[in-house]
Amino acid sequence: MIEIRKVQTSDGHRIDLFLESSESRVIDAKHLMLFPALIDPHVHFRVPGGEHKETWETGAMAAIAGGVTTVFDMPNNTPSCITKERLADKRALVEQQLKRVDIPLRHYFYLGADRNHLKEIPRTEQEIVGLKIYMGSSTGDLLMNDREALEEAFRIAAESDVIVAVHAEDEELIQIRKKEFAGQTDPKYHSFIRSNLAAAKAVELAIHLAEKYGARLYVVHTSTREELDLIRRAKNKGLPVFAEAAPHHLFLDDEAYQEMGTKALVNPPLRSSKDTEALWEAIEDETIDTIGTDHAPHTLAEKMKPFGAAPSGFPSIELYFPLLLDAYHKKKLSLEQIVSLTHTRPQEIFRLPINDDVVLVDLEKVKTIDNEHLKTKAKWSPYAGWTLKGWPRYTIANGKLFDLEKL
Ligand code: NCD
Ligand code: ZN
Repeated sequence: MIEIRKVQTSDGHRIDLFLESSESRVIDAKHLMLFPALIDPHVHFRVPGGEHKETWETGAMAAIAGGVTTVFDMPNNTPSCITKERLADKRALVEQQLKRVDIPLRHYFYLGADRNHLKEIPRTEQEIVGLKIYMGSSTGDLLMNDREALEEAFRIAAESDVIVAVHAEDEELIQIRKKEFAGQTDPKYHSFIRSNLAAAKAVELAIHLAEKYGARLYVVHTSTREELDLIRRAKNKGLPVFAEAAPHHLFLDDEAYQEMGTKALVNPPLRSSKDTEALWEAIEDETIDTIGTDHAPHTLAEKMKPFGAAPSGFPSIELYFPLLLDAYHKKKLSLEQIVSLTHTRPQEIFRLPINDDVVLVDLEKVKTIDNEHLKTKAKWSPYAGWTLKGWPRYTIANGKLFDLEKL
C-alpha cells in the first residue's frame, strides 16, 4: 500500500490517498498537489529501427520523469508498423525493454496506413489505439496521399470503429513549394515549404472523408489558425472530430530558427506568433482536446546536418508537464484545463480503461532545464536553458512509486 498523506487536490481540498501496491510507503505530501498521471497520445519511441535515437528503456524513463504513465506510439518505424505481424513483433520488443528497466508504462500502438495493407485494419482493430495516416511525408516512409486509398481507409476504419489519426499536410502542395525553394540553405524556409495552406487543405479533406464515411477523426499536432477554424466548424456540426496540439507549437514559434537553426525543424513546422495565439484561443474554447508531445527524438548530430539533410522532430515528453505548469503560473491556462488536456480528454476520446496512476507535483519548485539531466537518449531539448516553475515530484504507475529526484 502507498499512503499519500494530506495531498492537495487541484480543486482546493486536502486528502489522504491509499493506492494498492506491493510496496509499503508513506509520503508526506503536504507541499504537493495531486494530478491524474498524464496520457501522451503521440510519441515516437523509435523501436524498431531507430534505437540510436530512443528505446523504450530511455523513453519510458523520460515518460515517468514527466509524470506520464500511458503513451501511444506511432508506426513510422523501420520497418513501418503496417501489419498485424509487425505489430506483434514490435509489442514483443517493447515489452522486453520495459521489463529490463522494470517500468510498468502503459502503452498502445497505432497501425500505420498503407495503401496495399488496408485489410490490416479489421485484422488488428482489437489491438490498436487508432489508424495513423500520413497525408504528407515526414520521418519514415509512411505516406498515403492518393484519394482512392484515403477514401478506402476512412471507409474501413469507420466500419471497424477505429479512430483515424491524421498527420494533415498536403503532399502535393509541399512538393510544389519544395521545388520553388530548392537550393535554399536557411532552415526558416521549412515553414514556407510546409505552408498553412498545406495543413488546411489536408484537414479539410480529412474532415470531409470522416463525415462521408462516419469515421471518428483525430487531427494530430494542429498548428495553424486555419486548421482550428475548420475543426471548430466540424465540432459545431456535431461531428466526432478531435484536435491535438503539440507543446512546441504552443511554446515556440518561427523566431526559433534564428537561435536554433536546423534544430528547429519539425513537421508541421514552427509557425508565426499569430498561429501560436490561435492555438491558445483554441485551448480556451476547447477546440483543442488534447496535448500530444509528438516526442520525436533525433540525435544532435543528425539535427545539426545542413537544411535538407537534417531530420524533423523534437524530444519533449519529460518537459511538457512542467511547461504547462509554468504556463499555469503565467495565467495562460488553469489546472482544470491541464487535467482535461493531458488526461480526461485523451481517456474519453480513445476509450481507455480507468486506472489509479497519479503524479504528485511541487507547484512551487523552480528549475532550469539542462540537457545533461534529460532521460531521453537524444539528450537535448529545444527548451534547454528555460527556467520553469512547477515540477512533478513523484509518479505512481500501476502501483509502482517513482521518486523523481532519485530517478
Ligand atoms: C516525427 C518523427 O521524427 O518521427 N517528426 C516530426 O517532425 N514530427 C514524424 C511526425 O510525426 O511527423
Ligand atoms: Zn506527424
